[in-house]
Amino acid sequence: MTMARVQILFATMTGTAELVAEELMDHLSGQSVDCSMDPIDTFDVSRLENLEIILICTSTTGEGEVPDNGLEFHRYLREEQPDLRHIRFGVCGLGDSSYSATFNAGGAQFEAALISCGAVKIGERMLHDASSEVLPEDQAVGWCDDWLRLLSLSDQTV
Ligand SMILES: Cc1cc2nc3c(=O)[nH]c(=O)nc-3n(C[C@H](O)[C@H](O)[C@H](O)COP(=O)(O)O)c2cc1C
Repeated sequence: MTMARVQILFATMTGTAELVAEELMDHLSGQSVDCSMDPIDTFDVSRLENLEIILICTSTTGEGEVPDNGLEFHRYLREEQPDLRHIRFGVCGLGDSSYSATFNAGGAQFEAALISCGAVKIGERMLHDASSEVLPEDQAVGWCDDWLRLLSLSDQTV
């Protein structure tokens, strides 16, 4: 598939979102999609200028907060408001429905911050529920296929 490089950024407390990000990286590479993966806290934000596609893979912690290693990136988007109109993105969210009031709120926070910078959302957020029987990596791979289809459609319309 010919499309711009997909940059995966993961935000995690205990490693689940990292495992999911690795699975997505393998899945995308297996389809010849050019991609790279970084922990969100080591990602140099000056690289945003040259990116076109971002996939955020994040869990939720506390009472609806983004993981600790995602706080700085999230603050940067909210407070610095970089111009990200050239970026299309998706959010693969991990949460637990037992936190009913804040279910998957971490992913929602990244989504809102990216949109506030002008980035274009492709597809709906994935909402994994740790209280379900579904493995997050299995859900993510299926979600990713739909997301890729929407991405390539959006390529043809820009
Ligand atoms: C202390 C703690 C707080 C959590 N808070 C929320 C929450 O507010 N909303 C939610 O949907 N999930 C919440 N979760 C569930 C995690 O997001 C979920 O278990 C996820 O799969 C963990 O992924 P990670 O290992 O990448 O951090 C919480 C989990 C823990 C341990």
